[in-house]
Amino acid sequence: MTVEIDEYRPGDEARMAEIAPRAFGRFARHGIDYTLPRDRVESYYRNEVLDFARRMERQPDDLAAFVARRDGEPVGYIVVGIDQGRSELFQMRWGILRSLAVDPDLHHQGIGTKLIQRAMQWFREKRCECVDVGTDQNNIAAIRAYEAAGFRIIYCGMVLSQKLEY
Ligand SMILES: CC(C)(COP(=O)(O)OP(=O)(O)OC[C@H]1O[C@@H](n2cnc3c(N)ncnc32)[C@H](O)[C@@H]1OP(=O)(O)O)[C@@H](O)C(=O)NCCC(=O)NCCS
Repeated sequence: MTVEIDEYRPGDEARMAEIAPRAFGRFARHGIDYTLPRDRVESYYRNEVLDFARRMERQPDDLAAFVARRDGEPVGYIVVGIDQGRSELFQMRWGILRSLAVDPDLHHQGIGTKLIQRAMQWFREKRCECVDVGTDQNNIAAIRAYEAAGFRIIYCGMVLSQKLEY
């Protein structure tokens, strides 16, 4: 299987928005909360991709995406950006790896690793001095891939939630 990584092109977001809910369905705040209706959870991850696509059009210098393609069709993507607020505050270019997803049918074949490598090239081209990525503590594949690319865990937070009854 040959998979090529290249730049996001407008129109890719349709396929990316199909991959996102399938990839994230088992992870992250909404994916693991089975009190939430599944169709809304799927919409959440689909909309996140569509929102990235809109923001890339408006802020092409600060937000970018790279796409893994098999026979030209997107099978994974990574979204990268600059955190302007923190860059100004801390007087250094602060990069954020905003999203990463691979078609679940193609996991464990090195596609995620290739996407992260391409993202790191972008951060270096932008002269970032620091790059953050957040993930979940049970997301073993993501943690392994990020650590292999040089990231180290520096902080673990948690989300507490309660349902209010009336
Ligand atoms: C995280 C993700 C992008 C990795 O993509 P991938 O193409 O499977 O990654 P790779 O094949 O390059 O493998 C990366 C590492 O994860 C490991 N890995 C992949 N799938 C795994 C699995 N199901 N269980 C455990 N480890 C796994 C690989 O062994 C590799 O680690 P190693 O180099 O130490 O062996 C993919 O699992 C995914 O889309 N997950 C859902 C969305 C997500 O969690 N995104 C990241 C959120 S921050």
